[in-house]
Order: sequence, then C-alpha cells, then structure tokens
Amino acid sequence: MKRVLILLPLACVLFISCLGGQNLSGNNMKDAFKDKFMIGAALNQSQYKGDDIHAVNIIKKHFNTIVAENCMKSEKLQPKEGHFFFDDADKFVAFGLENNMFIVGHTLIWHSQAPAWFFVDDKGFDVSREMLIERMKNHITTVVTRYKGKVHGWDVVNEAILDDGSWRRSKFYEIIGEEYIKLAFEFAHQADPDAELYYNDYSMAHEGKRNGTINMVKKLQEEGIRIDGIGMQGHMIMEFPSYEAFEQSIIAFSELGVKVMITELDLSILPSPHATAGANIADTSDYENKLNPYTKELPEDVLRNWEERYHGFFSLFLKHHDKISRVTLWGVTDGDSWKNNWPVKGRTDYPLLFDRNYQPKPLVQRIMQEAYKHQAEDLLVKGK
Ligand code: XIL
Repeated sequence: MKRVLILLPLACVLFISCLGGQNLSGNNMKDAFKDKFMIGAALNQSQYKGDDIHAVNIIKKHFNTIVAENCMKSEKLQPKEGHFFFDDADKFVAFGLENNMFIVGHTLIWHSQAPAWFFVDDKGFDVSREMLIERMKNHITTVVTRYKGKVHGWDVVNEAILDDGSWRRSKFYEIIGEEYIKLAFEFAHQADPDAELYYNDYSMAHEGKRNGTINMVKKLQEEGIRIDGIGMQGHMIMEFPSYEAFEQSIIAFSELGVKVMITELDLSILPSPHATAGANIADTSDYENKLNPYTKELPEDVLRNWEERYHGFFSLFLKHHDKISRVTLWGVTDGDSWKNNWPVKGRTDYPLLFDRNYQPKPLVQRIMQEAYKHQAEDLLVKGK
C-alpha cells in the first residue's frame, strides 16, 4: 500500500507531462530508454578521435553503447598477414571506456572488408582449409585478446546467410564449409570467456533469412557453442520491411533464448534502386538524378511519412523491450551516414536522428516521450 501511495502520484505526473507533450529537449535518450534497452551509435574516426566535437557531445549526451563503424573490420586490423594495425581501434575502445559505454566490436568474420590475402596463398590460389582456419584463429585470438575485458560484445560472424536462408557462398564457406561459423564462435570464446558473442545480419525480416538464422543458432546451441545474441541490422527503406515481419523475427529470435539487438539502424528516405532492400555493400547502383530528389530540402509530406515510420519502429522496440537488449543507430548525424554513398554514390539522405547541423530531429523528442509514457505505464502497473 505504501508503495502504491508513493508510486502512483509519481507515475501520474510522468504520464500527464508526457501526454501534455512536455518539452523533453533537456533530457537524453539513454535516460529515456534506460529501463528498456541500451541506445547507441556506430562511431567513425573523427568521432572517437574527438575531432568532431559536436558529434562527440551528442554521443556523450545520448548514447550508452558504441560500435566501430569501420576500424575493427579485418582489412583495417590486419591489412597484411601478421601486421596488425590497432591505433584506431585502440582509440575507439578508449573513447568507450572513458565514457563508461558498452563497447561492441564489429566484426571478426565477414566476407566484406576483409583483406584479399586472407583467402589466398603466395601464388594467388585459394588457401587450404587448414590454413584458412589457422588464419581465422590467429585473427580472432589476437584481436579479442587485445580487448579482453574492454570490448563487451563481439559481432563474431556477419552476414553468413542469404535472404532465402541458404548459406552465403563466401570464401569462408567455400573453403571451410559451414563449420567456419562454429569455429569463429569457439575461437572468440576461448580468447575472452566473458565477452558476449553475436551473429549479425541484414534483412532479418525475410522469412528465409529468419528461418536460416534460427536453424544456425539452434545448431550452435545444440553443440554447446556460446552465442549470446542475434543482431538485426536495421537498414530500413520506406518500403521494407513491414512492422509485422520484423516483429515476427524479434519474437522468433527471442524464443531461442538469446538477446535480440537492433544493430545498424537507419531509415533511408530516398528511392531504392533495388527491388528488395538489403545491405550487401557490394550491391551498388549507378547515380541518376531521379534517385537523389532531396538535395536542397525535404517536402513536408515526405518527412512526415519518414517520421511516422521511424516512430512506428521505436514503438515496436518499446513493445518488445523485454526481448531487445540494445538499439544501435548506424551513425550519429545525417551528414556522416554511409547511406549518402550506398547503394548509390553521392546522394543526400536523411536516415538518422540528428541532422547535418547536429540538431536532434523532432522525432527524438517523440520517441523519448514514447519511452517516458512506457515508464509511467510500467509504474502504474507495478503500483497496482
Ligand atoms: C559500412 C560503413 O558504414 C561504411 O563506411 C563502409 O564504407 C562500408 O560498410 N553492414 C555492416 C556494416 O555490417 O559494417 C556496413 O558498414 C554497412 C552494412
């Protein structure tokens, strides 16, 4: 009874202030979402090095988790066999530690942005299975050991499954077979037994990819391999995915008993040159003016539709906050989003929560209000 007396008025104040559309600009997203999930961003070099001071201010204010946008990819970390380059990754990790953030390493094993030497011998032929396993082991062990106890979670394998659920015919798959996935998780776990280990992929709302991922994770679990979470890359376009399909995947993944994470979130406002949206960085298209319609400004109605859709996804994440451990945006401001150059180079896109002038979009307030509304509702339920 005493608890009800204390909690109820508090909940009501919160609830009323939210419904009244109170200005929450003084608040920050990490507080707004704190009972729900971590909220974060992928950082580029000028951010973790501290040069882009306005972006750094946003990151410190709003985010409690960071991921490396590029500096931990294998072509960056080991451009030549045995020659590791850690300067940038060290700075990224130091930034996270200084600011008390949950640090995610991206990514240990991925067919893209891997150095060419990884898969060939000195004559240019494919390496043997044993040699590729050895190279994987050496890469993973060296990198994970260096950041043991500092990087809290690793995207161990990225994008191993195609939209139809079959295995991607990457060099890892062709030379080693599907066992490369299990091995990658084992090597990472051996190097840091306390680190969380994830599988990360795009277009996870596709039924085929959803089922392929579930089968893979189940098999790993049956074999006793540690896997803590599934990262659903959130590279959205206006037409794909549907809330329903995305929600189905959140639920299905969570039923495996692993954490679900919305990784790499951005919502492109531009026309997609592809029939189905994905995020395979090799799928690029030529520039055409009609694919770049908003170089000066955004029409009201276009912006409104974009905002509604983004808001809808955040509502979905809040609805499933018991399953979702983290939501990470793929960048901080529109100006530095990779979507300006992929899948078409040289466009002006608006996929993130902060604009090119480092200002929060009105959507930031809306999603924070939504989060506070949830907090208030939770308090009311607990008070009963
Ligand atoms: C992107 C980066 O944002 C770009 O800067 C880089 O040029 C290409 O890669 N899926 C992933 C990310 O897992 O690593 C990719 O990041 C985007 C798609």
